[in-house]
Amino acid sequence: MSALPVIVEGLSHSVLDSGQEKRTLAPLSRSFLPGKLHVVSGPSGSGKTTLLSLLALSVRPSRGLIHWGKLNLTQLSHPDAATWRKANLGLIFQTSRLVSVMTAVENACFGGRIRGLRIEDEAHRLLAGFGLAGRMDQLPSQLSGGEKQRVAIVQALACRPPLLLADEPTASLDSANAAFVAETLKAYARSNSACVICVSHDATVIDAADDLLTLARP
Ligand SMILES: Nc1ncnc2c1ncn2[C@@H]1O[C@H](COP(=O)(O)OP(=O)(O)O)[C@@H](O)[C@H]1O
Ligand SMILES: [Mg+2]
Repeated sequence: MSALPVIVEGLSHSVLDSGQEKRTLAPLSRSFLPGKLHVVSGPSGSGKTTLLSLLALSVRPSRGLIHWGKLNLTQLSHPDAATWRKANLGLIFQTSRLVSVMTAVENACFGGRIRGLRIEDEAHRLLAGFGLAGRMDQLPSQLSGGEKQRVAIVQALACRPPLLLADEPTASLDSANAAFVAETLKAYARSNSACVICVSHDATVIDAADDLLTLARP
């Protein structure tokens, strides 16, 4: 795994809303470093999800640059962006997105399978660590919201992406599980020299941050 910083320079985004230009992210310049848990906070509508979409290269910025080490990500073609994502990016969403006909362990291994990685042992270890040892063979419909979210987090971590983006990953978890997720993300960053960027207003996650970025409404 290559430990590279994500550097954004003058990054901003606007959309056309009923013919009017509406800013969705105010200009941002910042470095996100390997080995660190970066937490992004700020009020609803301040552009937190927009920032993650830009960093995931799923939305193109209106202005500014995103560098991954020396590579200018904003210049990549769509196919090159897809290749970069597959090699480097892990995503955790606010609510889990699991395949309904696959068990917890199959879902946990799914990201690895589509990347051709052997991650079964890692997925089992992480699921057990998340208190899901007895739930591995359950379908998503048999799991609680919090259990599904923990499976989705395992799915992202098991591939060991060097860049992990998480959008309010503890929103459906109780405080004990939220604390465990915060510590797990931090330990993941440390032990893999990965860059972890986590949107959250959860005090437990903010307390665990190595670096806190608070966005204001644009
Ligand atoms: N495609 C879009 N069209 C119109 N407005 C959008 C679009 N995407 C985001 N926005 C607006 O941009 C602002 C920032 O959104 P978002 O990044 O989701 O904020 P946050 O995640 O901090 O709540 C909000 O005012 C939102 O309504
Ligand atoms: Mg959001």
